[in-house]
Amino acid sequence: MACCFVRGLSVESQIVEMEAVLHWHGVQANAAWAAALEAGKVLYFPHLGFQVLPQEARLIDPGILSPQSRNISLDANGALHGASGDPATVQALGTMIGRFRAQSQQLIAALLPHYNGHLRLAPTSYRPMQVESRRQSWRADDRRLHVDAFPSRPNDGERILRVFANVNPAGVARVWRVGEPFETVAQRFVPRFTRYSKWQAGALRALHVTKSLRSEYDHMMLQLHDAMKSDLDYQKSAGQATVPFAAGSAWVCFSDQTSHAVMSGQYMLEQTLFLAPQHLYDPQSSPLAILSRLAGRPLVARQPG
Ligand code: SIN
Ligand code: FE
Repeated sequence: MACCFVRGLSVESQIVEMEAVLHWHGVQANAAWAAALEAGKVLYFPHLGFQVLPQEARLIDPGILSPQSRNISLDANGALHGASGDPATVQALGTMIGRFRAQSQQLIAALLPHYNGHLRLAPTSYRPMQVESRRQSWRADDRRLHVDAFPSRPNDGERILRVFANVNPAGVARVWRVGEPFETVAQRFVPRFTRYSKWQAGALRALHVTKSLRSEYDHMMLQLHDAMKSDLDYQKSAGQATVPFAAGSAWVCFSDQTSHAVMSGQYMLEQTLFLAPQHLYDPQSSPLAILSRLAGRPLVARQPG
């Protein structure tokens, strides 16, 4: 990949470029790619475009968002949320996003066959907003380097695998920063974490702040997310590479592991798939395994088998 501003880390150390992949189906699996992905690298497919059909071009417009929504999402049951417009528009959006869902699943099934039968479908999102003009609290600001963690949905170490496609019709790249390996980030921030309190986790569940009991793992992941985002010095000085994902490209990463930030761009599709960490090619590469090693104790009640 040409053209990237690098601070400390080379783009090549963070991104694996998959030049040869041109179609969503029929990709050959390769152990080295799986290992790179599970090491926290981004698999980048510069020539794997998601085709927006001519009759769908009118959907590439932030005006189709309902007023309070940042994204449009197709939930695992097939219901569409966050869209405004007449029934035909809503139906067309569901069709386009559903096609991206099917193609993402096809890509992952061929690329990472070891996960087959173990992936749990999560929502598919369409993000038509311009990143640069969004105003958000620091905690919600994805322009700061972070790893993904869910405040209200504890996941006990379940992996967050994401497929992204830049569908910008004007050729505008979606620009990310990609940071240091998970273990490096964790080593820096773990000593600053507040202690986990089971009592507090119980209270959060009782108050419906969380949907289930927040485990020590989930507590640590949220601490990591917040510690990274709130540390402006870290944001500037951490090893990182700026990576433009071209319009008409796709990329895949474990967003609970890869330190990432989105700096600019508009119009992206995203598919989330959940995977229990015991089904990784190398379960020892997971954030759960890394944080458990650093803490020196189990972080979830039931250890993955
Ligand atoms: C994120 O997951 O932090 C946002 C990624 C993006 O919108 O490009
Ligand atoms: Fe994120």
